[in-house]
Amino acid sequence: MARITAGVTTSHVPAIGAAIDQGRTETEYWAPLFAGYDWSKKWIAHERPDVVVLVYNDHASAFSLEVIPTFAIGCADQFEIADEGFGPRPVPPVIGHPDLACHLVESLILDQFDITVVNQMAVDHGLTVPLSLLFGQPDAWPVRVVPVAVNVIQFPPPTGERCYQLGRAIRRAVATYPEDLNVQVWGTGGMSHQLHGPRAGLINRTFDNAYLDDLTSDLDRLRSMAHIEYLREAGSEGIELVMWLVMRGALGDAVTPLHRFYHVPASNTAVGHLVLDATVS
Ligand code: DHB
Ligand code: FE
Repeated sequence: MARITAGVTTSHVPAIGAAIDQGRTETEYWAPLFAGYDWSKKWIAHERPDVVVLVYNDHASAFSLEVIPTFAIGCADQFEIADEGFGPRPVPPVIGHPDLACHLVESLILDQFDITVVNQMAVDHGLTVPLSLLFGQPDAWPVRVVPVAVNVIQFPPPTGERCYQLGRAIRRAVATYPEDLNVQVWGTGGMSHQLHGPRAGLINRTFDNAYLDDLTSDLDRLRSMAHIEYLREAGSEGIELVMWLVMRGALGDAVTPLHRFYHVPASNTAVGHLVLDATVS
């Protein structure tokens, strides 16, 4: 059977992708950030997951204001790299796992989670920057990806609790997939940041570190956190953090933190990164 072995969270800042693509990872500004991923790159090279269920948000690249699914699963064989205004990133296309993706769709819908099916979409920095952070610059990504897109762009985004419950439903779905697959679930976005308006540039280290703590020590607090608290404490784009709760729900109750990293600044964002083991019984 397929099993979820680990979870990863990471911010997905576009400037991180540009630093990798343009060979600037060793500069004074960027080196401390990339150093925080050295452990994770070695870890994942050893873990060799077959599939990553990658929870991210599209930033008006594949979806526009005309169509905004709250939760969508990419069921295609392959996902092209989105052009976000500077041409597509020079990274390999993302290879899907249509069979697992369709199983997730069927299982989630029969489990009362009415998910949108996407058979063609380009993927933006929300999905490709986390892949680059963990896998570097390979000729082909060494993992298949099932993209799970969450609307956090247009109000109202789903609640943290709904995201957590989606994760639990993904866990139930993966457990009934007959093939023996090593599956990881990643949650991307965050941490505190605000890109627009008078509070642009907002960073809240206290809030961010408490969030990193409570993913393993006080999940109930995060599950019940209201949108207004994300906005007030973590800025308007801090709401991306609800996607980490999908990852957390998918791991089950018992998790072991393996690696934690927090760094400011990266562009306008505080970067947070966690690796959680889910194999404890
Ligand atoms: C930035 C961060 C994001 O998460 C994003 O989606 C876009 C921009 C930034 O810090 O510049
Ligand atoms: Fe984002």
